[in-house]
This record gives sequence, structure tokens and C-alpha cells, in this order.
Amino acid sequence: MIRYNHIKKLLFKIDPERVHQGVERLLPLMAKCPITTNMFAKRSIFSDTVLEQELFGRKFYNPVGLAAGYDKDAKMLSFLPLLGFGFVEVGTVTPLPQKGNPKPRLFRHKQEESLQNAMGFNNSGMEAMAKRLERLTPFSIPIGVNIGKNKLTEPEQAIEDYAQLVQKLEGFADYIVVNISSPNTPGLRDLQNEAFIEELFTRLKKLSHRPILLKVAPDLKAQDAIALCKKAVEEGASGIIATNTSNDYSLVANPKPTGGISGKVLQKKSFALFEELAKELFGKTTLISVGGIDDADEVYKRIRAGASLVQVYTALIYNGPKLVYRLNQGLTKNLKRDGFNSITEAIGADRKQ
Ligand SMILES: Cc1cc2nc3c(=O)[nH]c(=O)nc-3n(C[C@H](O)[C@H](O)[C@H](O)COP(=O)(O)O)c2cc1C
Repeated sequence: MIRYNHIKKLLFKIDPERVHQGVERLLPLMAKCPITTNMFAKRSIFSDTVLEQELFGRKFYNPVGLAAGYDKDAKMLSFLPLLGFGFVEVGTVTPLPQKGNPKPRLFRHKQEESLQNAMGFNNSGMEAMAKRLERLTPFSIPIGVNIGKNKLTEPEQAIEDYAQLVQKLEGFADYIVVNISSPNTPGLRDLQNEAFIEELFTRLKKLSHRPILLKVAPDLKAQDAIALCKKAVEEGASGIIATNTSNDYSLVANPKPTGGISGKVLQKKSFALFEELAKELFGKTTLISVGGIDDADEVYKRIRAGASLVQVYTALIYNGPKLVYRLNQGLTKNLKRDGFNSITEAIGADRKQ
């Protein structure tokens, strides 16, 4: 049997963005072939009713989702449920197509099982995204659409970008995520302030009844992140996603000069901020935890800390397509071992003690 570790040795000899582009072409083709779809479905989808929950008006068969940035253009969506995900977040999509930052802009830190990316919202824009999503709606699992402003949009016009995106894409999304936490669009993180959040959510909530969530950076001070997220919830946000990548370059031994760091080295930092947010916001809004998750115990820890859902990206690159099965299988074991009949009982268990 071919093991992912063998394939990974070969893939890791190739430039990471070229590998990603290859996968982006391959998966839609594989989705058309019943032999591969059956094989992946059998090996990757782990089902147990203990993992099921209702959120945002949809059923989530398991809490493990694909984080934003992997399927920026919703090109691989037809295949991704076959990797066992409970939900997928596409994007970040911007109103107009844009090329992103100059290459190379994606790097592996192999020893640290981490990545550093300075992609800069390379994507084919909201019109192309809407066409793809329209063809796939209604989709088998819940879909999040992660939205961002174009690089050339001035900060004063940023709200207009988010408003256009919501109007164009809300019909295809089970939830929408406002991304103002990417480190790769100049000035974007400066929008992580309460005045902007108030104006933004006031505007967006008038345009759509879909759940709109805010994604935050792990580099915010806890008190600032709490204030920002509280404000967002007050103004109608339906949830918080913590966290995006980090620009704390002390996390890796040989950092590149630009880009955000993800993966194993982000685990502690991301969880630390998530936990601070959960202490304040658990029970008041839906919390999604992302950053460095690579095993079932970590998923369980985040759920007990208050996450209704978790997301992964970098661990998928290092662990391969069996990752999601392993996470869900291990989580199920942990839930049953500790006497939970449903994941909903375990969400925030550590907050209730
Ligand atoms: C190559 C790459 C591209 C990403 N692009 C986006 C993006 O477009 N929008 C976004 O909100 N997050 C993006 N992210 C961040 C991830 O969604 C996630 O928040 C972060 O990587 C931490 O999770 P991980 O440690 O499991 O990778 C990207 C991450 C990587 C590695």
C-alpha cells in the first residue's frame, strides 16, 4: 500500500505552491471518477452520531473543517467532503480577481511541521466564485465563505468591498467570515479596531441574515482581541474564528522575511488566545478554533475549551488525507471515554466547571 509518508517525500522536493496547484487540478478530476471517490469516502469519512450537531441552521456531521486559504476559489469543493471534513471554508475571496504577492510566497518549515505563507489573497474574484458555488448548491456539507478586501482598495472603502462580497455570495454560504486578520494585505490588520467593526457589522447585518463571523489574528493582545470580539458580537456577529496565521517570527528557526506562520509551532499561541476569548464569550456566541491542530487530543481540548467547531490546514499537508478520519475517530473515543453522549455536551465543558 502506498503511504502518504512516501508520497510526501517526493512532494516535498517540489515547490509548495506548484504542489498545491497540481492538487487543485487533480482533485476535481478525481471527483468525477467513481473508483477514487468510493475509495476516499471509505477511508476518510468517519461517522458517529456522537459527533453530530446543528449549527447555523445546518447539520454538521463532524466538527472538523477545512480552514480558509486551501480552496481559495472553490475549485476543489466537489472532492473535499470525500476527505471526511464536516464543513469547508472557501476563500479568502475578494471582489475583483487579484494575483497576490510575488512568488515564491509559500514556504515549508519541515522540522517544525509548519508553513509560512505570504500569498496575499490570490484568487479569481467573487464573480467566478459565485458561478462555481451556484453550480454546487445545495452542497452536501456546510460551506463557509471567507471574504477579504482587494489589495488596492483604500481602507476608507474597505466596507464597500465587504458589502459587495456579502451581497454577491450570501446565497451560497451557510456562514460568512470577515477576514481582517491576514498579515499579507498591507494595512488589513489595522482594521482590527472597534470603530471599524461597529461600522462593518452594522452595514453587513442590514444586507444579510446569514451568520457572519469574524476571524482574528493570534498576534493581538488578549485584552484587545476580547474587546474587538465582544464588539463584533454586540453588533451582530454570529461567531468568532481564532486564529489566523502569526507574524511572530520567533516561532521558527529560519523565518522568511514576510508572511504568516501556521502549523505545529502556532498551536500554543493560537490556543492561548482562543482560551482567553472563550472565557469571555463562551455561551454568548459560536466559537471556532484553528491553529496548529494536528491530533485528536488537541481537537478535544479545543472543544472542551469552548469551540463548537475546529479547522485544520497545515496538518493536512504534513499528515495527508487520513488526517480528518484520525481526528474524528480519536475525538469520538475521547467523548465516549468521558461519558458524553453528544459533542454538544462536551463543547465548553471546561468553562462550566
Ligand atoms: C497557504 C495558506 C494560505 C492561507 N490563506 C488564508 C486565507 O486566504 N484566508 C484566511 O482567512 N486564512 C488563510 N490561511 C490561514 C488558515 O486558514 C489558518 O487560520 C491558519 O493556517 C492556522 O491553521 P493551521 O495551523 O491549521 O494551518 C492560510 C494559511 C495557509 C497555510
